[in-house]
Parts: sequence; C-alpha cells; structure tokens
Amino acid sequence: MKTQHREAQVAPLLDPSTLAPFVDPVVIPQIAVPSGTLPDPEDTSARIPRYDIDIHEARVKVHRDLPATRMWTLGGAFPGVTLETKSGHAMQVNWKNNLPSHHFLPIDHTLHGAGKSVPEGRSVIHLHGGRTPAASDGYPEDWVVPGKTQTCFYPARQDAALLFCHDHSMGINRLNIYAGMQGFFIVRDDVEERLNLPKGKYEVPLLICDRLLRTDGQLYYPVSPDPASPWVPEVFGNAILVNGKLLPYLDVEPRKYRFRLMNGSNGRFYRFSLENKAAFHQIASDQGLLAAPVARTRLPLAPAERADIIIDFSQMKGEKVELRSDAFSILQFHVGRVPVQDESSLPSVLHPIPRLQESEAVRTRRLTLDENLDPEDRSMGMLLNNTPWHMPITEKPVLNTTEIWELINLTEDSHPIHLHLVRFQILDRRPFDTFNYFSNNTVRYTGPAVPPDPGELGWKDTARTDPGMVTRIIVPFQGYAGRYVWHCHILEHEDNEMMRPFEVLPAAGGPI
Ligand code: C2O
Ligand code: CU
Ligand code: CU
Repeated sequence: MKTQHREAQVAPLLDPSTLAPFVDPVVIPQIAVPSGTLPDPEDTSARIPRYDIDIHEARVKVHRDLPATRMWTLGGAFPGVTLETKSGHAMQVNWKNNLPSHHFLPIDHTLHGAGKSVPEGRSVIHLHGGRTPAASDGYPEDWVVPGKTQTCFYPARQDAALLFCHDHSMGINRLNIYAGMQGFFIVRDDVEERLNLPKGKYEVPLLICDRLLRTDGQLYYPVSPDPASPWVPEVFGNAILVNGKLLPYLDVEPRKYRFRLMNGSNGRFYRFSLENKAAFHQIASDQGLLAAPVARTRLPLAPAERADIIIDFSQMKGEKVELRSDAFSILQFHVGRVPVQDESSLPSVLHPIPRLQESEAVRTRRLTLDENLDPEDRSMGMLLNNTPWHMPITEKPVLNTTEIWELINLTEDSHPIHLHLVRFQILDRRPFDTFNYFSNNTVRYTGPAVPPDPGELGWKDTARTDPGMVTRIIVPFQGYAGRYVWHCHILEHEDNEMMRPFEVLPAAGGPI
C-alpha cells in the first residue's frame, strides 16, 4: 500500500531513553522587541508599541544528539518569541504568515473547515486567556494565507497572568500547534510587583509539551488506519519537551525560584512532582495569583492550564533534583553548592480573590460534553451540547452579566474546557448517573459536590471536566461584546467538532 511504502522510507520512531539525558540547558525564549509605535485606537493621544512577528518554518535543536527538527514557529523559535506587557498597556501585534503553502503534517480533509480546497498554510493566532476584542481574538475561521498578515490589538486590561499565543486555524490547529505555533504572553501588574516574588533570572517560564519524534529528529504525528481520514482522537508523545528541549537541565542557585508552568500538550495531562518529594508552593493558576500560596507535593496540569510555583532550593545545595510527571522525567535541576542571599519573598497572602456567589448569576446553562465514536459516523465524534460547530449560535450571554455553566460530562474522558475572553471560577464538580441522563435527560446526582482543588480556587480560563461529573463554573462576561469560542483544549477533540461559538450581546443601553 502507498502509505506503508512511504512509512518505510522515513526514520523509525525515537525512543528518548536511548538519548543522553540532561545534556542541554533549558532555554528561556527571547522577549519580543517592538518594531515601532502607533496611536492607541482607544486613546489617540497615546501611543502603543507595535510588534511584527513572522510565522515561519524553522529548524529547532531539541537535543544535542539529534538533528534539528523542522517546526512552524512564531518568530523563528520554539516556544515562539515571548510578548510581555503591563496590565492596561495595549499593544498591536502583526502576525505575518510566512508559512510554506503545504503542510508537513497529515491534514484530515474530512474535518469541518479543512477541505481540500482550503489553503494548507493558513494561520490565525489567538491570545489564550486574553481579554481581547472579538476582531483581534483569532476566530478559527478568520485565518490568513501565506503572505498575509493578521493584525491584532491586545488591550491587556486584565490582572497579571501567564497567557499564551497559539494558532487556532479551523480543522488544523492541532497540527499547527504540534508543529510549534505557541509562545508565552506575560501580563504584569503592580499587585504582583509589590509582592517581591522571585524575578529576573529567578522567574522561569516553562512550556511543557509532549511529542513523538523520529530518530532523525523529525516530528511524527500519528494517523488513523484510514488514509482518507487520518484524524486520531488523541496524541500522546514519549518525548517531553521543556521550552523545546528534550530532557534538559537547569542550573539553579540554592534559593527560591518562581516557575511559570504551562501545559502546551495536545492531549497529555501532567502530575508534576519533585524527585525528592519536596513540597513547593503554588501561587498562581491560569488567570493569575491565588489568594494565598498552596503547599503541595504534586501539581496536576491539564492541557492549556498554567500554574506558577515557588520552589525553594536552599535545602538542596549541590543536589541534582528531577522534576517529574508520574514515570516521566521532565527536567533536572542542578542546584549550586554556594549559599546565596535570597531577597525575594513568598508572602503568606497574595491578593484577595472574592469568591463569586451563585446568586450573582442571571442564568444557568446546562451544556453536555458528548462522545460517540461510531466509526461509521465520524461527524458525530465529540461534541459540545450535541451541536456541531456550524449550527447557529445558542449561547448568547449579555455583557456584564454573570452566568453559571453546568458542564455535564457524558464521555469517558476528562476534557479541559476553555472559554475565550473571560475568566471564571470553578464552583464544584459533582458525580451523577450518566445512564439515567441518557434515558431521560435529567441529572440525578449520586454523591456530594466536590469543591475545587485549592490550586483551582483562583481565576481560571480552562477547567478540567471529569467523566461522570457535572462541573459547574461561574462566569462574569466582561470586556467586550462579540463572537468568541469555547472548546475542549484537547486539540484533537477541538479540531473535530468539540468547539462552539458563543456571542456576548451588548449590555442593555450600554455602548457596543
Ligand atoms: Cu488556547 Cu481557543 O484556545
Ligand atoms: Cu483562548
Ligand atoms: Cu476533549
């Protein structure tokens, strides 16, 4: 068969355990430099920085002993160039698509929006976690072709947090992100600044993602047995990359560090811990600081979730300590022997986060997560509220109102559900009888509600919804009216219909 013939010509899959571990240092992505300024569209007496970022193919060295890997990048590196700003300091980013016209990963042309006539080198960048006007949010169908530029205005009127930019192209965003189209976007503010957390070289963003590599260093993206429809429901790699390096090490001083962890995997959930079982403190989740640090020895992180942790290495002088996720080594810290002065603090209180009251919600929506892997009917793969992407918009919250969304997971998987534009809080998760739901469409709870984990008590933009549970989130729709999307952040699910638009309607009597 043709596919087998082609497979035979390429290098076999790499077993990362055959490589020397911890020989490459962790690399911190460059901070983008503005190429100029322009008048602030919201206040023409002010000027804002303009960034011009090229999206293009590049060769990225993931390990000392592997040939460089072909990737598609935001600015020539993986992770892409980091954008950084202060809360309320807007910027314009011109994302220039300079991709080749043909994809190097297997497109499934049967997926919605990915037909044979659609340009393969398309891109549309979304700022995940950004409170961004709809026109700049990177709507999946608003892709541009090679040679064209997507202009985005990011007001960044939001609290300090680790956000990230990534591709969102309809039907292929799993491939584009797997190919490398991801990068950090850091929002800072005075609240965070005053806390005197470890900063500068003691603040380290880490994008962690899994890949499958071939022995020639090239990315392998798995395919189904059907050549006409190569989509697979999930991808798990055995090569875990940390800022684009496979099994790197990081030299640290025996003092406190702030690590800003981001799960950039297509579908892998992590449970981080230190090899020596030492406790660390989680200080932030997706949308910024928690109310207070949470001491823990294990940190779960679903795809697209972020967490900031403080690790104090002062009691580990001269040691080598691995960061692990279950059986996987992620990276190795090389702790210096020489004692150092540590002027930074780990405050016992970070900043107040008012818990939203259920009574603030004007509306409760029941939304199901559905899965039907009938091989005869792939259009019915995974859905939100049993409704495919192209159907008319059904969720239309009003700007400046608060809603409760009850996410009823009828599937056998955990799905990280993400809403664009907003930040929300998790109310609880509660087990229910799925069979009863299938037979009469009603939720019969089978146990008490489980409160969110302590590390989930801050503001979130992505929430784990576990199988057999109703996950309730409370969402203030603030920022901008317009059309946005919500979806599962397992990228294979998202690309195959587990994504829906929603529209924020203008506030009654208010400006649009
Ligand atoms: Cu990470 Cu639709 O986004
Ligand atoms: Cu997003
Ligand atoms: Cu999913």
